[in-house]
Amino acid sequence: MEILLAKEYGFCFGVKRAVKTVEETAVTAGEPVYTLGPIVHNDEVVAQMQNLGVWAKNAIDEIDAGTVIIRAHGVPPETLDAARDKGLRIVDGTCPLVIKVQQLARALHDEGYQVVIYGKPQHPEVVGIAGWAGEGAVIVQNLDEALALPRSKKIGVVSQTTSILADYQQVIGALMGKCQELRAHNTICNATAQRQAAAVETAQQVDVMLVIGEAHSSNSRRLAEVCAQVNPRTYRIATAEGLEAAWFAGAEKVGITAGASTPDTTIERVIAWLTNLHESALI
Ligand code: F3S
Repeated sequence: MEILLAKEYGFCFGVKRAVKTVEETAVTAGEPVYTLGPIVHNDEVVAQMQNLGVWAKNAIDEIDAGTVIIRAHGVPPETLDAARDKGLRIVDGTCPLVIKVQQLARALHDEGYQVVIYGKPQHPEVVGIAGWAGEGAVIVQNLDEALALPRSKKIGVVSQTTSILADYQQVIGALMGKCQELRAHNTICNATAQRQAAAVETAQQVDVMLVIGEAHSSNSRRLAEVCAQVNPRTYRIATAEGLEAAWFAGAEKVGITAGASTPDTTIERVIAWLTNLHESALI
């Protein structure tokens, strides 16, 4: 059995950086360390962080003292103010590309644009960007919501970094008809698009395609969807424990990709399981 890894998979640059920040801070802080929310949507990584003595808390209110690490999604400025007011030390793990979106949203606000953020309203990254964009910013999550917005003289728009470009372009087109002046920034990070393109390319070449990522990781679910469109023998699993030997009956080539929150250790265990299955079949 041949195993093909997609050209791009697993942790993106921003997540790698945030995880490294937690690992380094755990060693050097010399005081309790917390992350604001889980550092990534992956139970194994969260458990690894707990082994280092780093616990995830949902709000600044839940932390009395020590160091708080901001994850890659970023937070609104009010959250940073609340942490400072409590005397907490802040280590900022916000992805630099997300910081750029926050800064663009703030600049649009300061220049008098009606700020529109394209993204999912509940997503922590969008909540953070909206905080930086200040009062009056609106979030739209689809074309219909963009079409329903009232007219403004000047509209400035940014997107959640993980949006799909074609959908964002449609929203921009709708906003064009709502104002005299439109300023749209392309703030989509290509890590997501690159992973999807690489996953599809691999799925097309194999008998069975595996997507490693947890059910609550939206980018992992999306990877599984795009792979299933080109290869019906696509399976999403959270860990090697979810694998079933029957999936691989007659398969000569197996492809692997992984969501942006899946650690290398999980991927290595899946590869080891497949290697073991192959070797047992040869005995
Ligand atoms: Fe940053 Fe892009 Fe990852 S914005 S957190 S590198 S998906």
